[in-house]
Amino acid sequence: MSVMTAADHRIPQSVADNLGLPAAYADGRIFETYKWLRANEPLGVAKIEGIDPFWVVTRHEDILEISRQNDLFHNGDRSPTLVSQEADKKVREMMGGSPHLLRTLIHMDAPDHLKYRLLTQAWFMPQNLKRLEDQIRELARAAVRTMAAKGGHCDFVREVALHYPLRVIMSIMGVPEADEPRMLKLTQELFGAADPELARDAGTPVAEREFDMGVIIDFSNYFRAISEDRRAHPTEDLASLIANSRIDGQPISDLEAMSYYIIVATAGHDTTSSSTAGALWALAQNPGELAKVKADPSLIPSLVDESIRWTTPVKTFMRTATEDVTFAGRDLKKGDWLMLCYASGNRDEAVFEAPDEFRVDRKPNKHLAFGYGAHLCLGQHLAKMEMRILWEELLPRLSELSLDGTPAMSESTFVNGPKRLPIRFKMS
Ligand code: HEM
Repeated sequence: MSVMTAADHRIPQSVADNLGLPAAYADGRIFETYKWLRANEPLGVAKIEGIDPFWVVTRHEDILEISRQNDLFHNGDRSPTLVSQEADKKVREMMGGSPHLLRTLIHMDAPDHLKYRLLTQAWFMPQNLKRLEDQIRELARAAVRTMAAKGGHCDFVREVALHYPLRVIMSIMGVPEADEPRMLKLTQELFGAADPELARDAGTPVAEREFDMGVIIDFSNYFRAISEDRRAHPTEDLASLIANSRIDGQPISDLEAMSYYIIVATAGHDTTSSSTAGALWALAQNPGELAKVKADPSLIPSLVDESIRWTTPVKTFMRTATEDVTFAGRDLKKGDWLMLCYASGNRDEAVFEAPDEFRVDRKPNKHLAFGYGAHLCLGQHLAKMEMRILWEELLPRLSELSLDGTPAMSESTFVNGPKRLPIRFKMS
């Protein structure tokens, strides 16, 4: 690991501290921080107590460029998410020197990454997903029926948004409906480790919750049983595809199979429900935008893109420089850690007109909420399809919508979104 010497590009402490503070991602401070950084220090160094120094990438253009250069900026050399020095040390102790508890696509680089990605990539392409459209529409209709039965008010996150994408991904994975509450809780514990309401054991310090092996062990135990079952009795589902896949002629290892299940099961629903809830929140505050998309359903795909830009549920991923390089006028050293701030790129004034406005008809919408380059979100077509279908079913029936109390966002420097959204509505 290099020692950063870029004193001239050091981010002022009060600004840098927000980047490592989960609460700043919940109360909107992070957007002010990003705005300041884009204008004053778009590629600066954050030094935060207890965390290794890292470069903070806030401009759209720079995020794309770093994401595209996968040989120069690796995912797996250090943790691909922001972690404290203490958590990093504990993980390396537990994992024999590796900085990773899991080995998912996110943790891999060439040549392994592509081999593992190709195992399921075709499955996630629109041609294959088309055959799921009717099944997903049924689940969307059930979600809309649930909402209609709430009698005009509900917490849209807990009672609607969380369940629909979960149902979709679990049915695709072949997880029985009865086990969904367990999957939801485990995912919330994984992504909500820093949130006092979502964490498994909110009494322990945040740094300790970051390497909560308990959650990963529970996930692995669950999926190990599914994996064994699908090896013995393969079906058409995604779990069977993963369980029976081979790399270089050998069956994939237990750690890698479990990691695959965990990333698909977790990345696949929290993000999608957050984007949907983020959009409903924005529509409740902007009745003109709701009226626009209700009057012209051909705007639904653009509403979906705007929802994802607006919420940007994956806030950050980290990369590590593989050699000394001058990038955007900064001298990066081999081993330097970089934080890609997707939500900043998605509010970059150089790319988006009025970036702080929610516009259902925004065109073009070159958001980078799904990342870019070799790791571009594998589930992006599924996420967009699910959201489109839900809006197609919900919007024609929704005649009035307003907030009914104070919504709240979850606290996390990694993946976050609305955790509470009380609404009042009328449905036909
Ligand atoms: C709105 C919903 C979603 C958002 C915002 C989102 C965002 C992201 C982001 C930012 C990345 C990293 C990209 C990069 O490093 O360049 C990613 C990767 C990934 N996503 Fe998603 N995602 C969403 C939905 C899904 C769904 C529905 C699935 C699967 C069912 C999924 C599975 C994955 C996987 C497997 C990867 C790792 C890909 C790789 O490293 O090659 N995501 N996603």
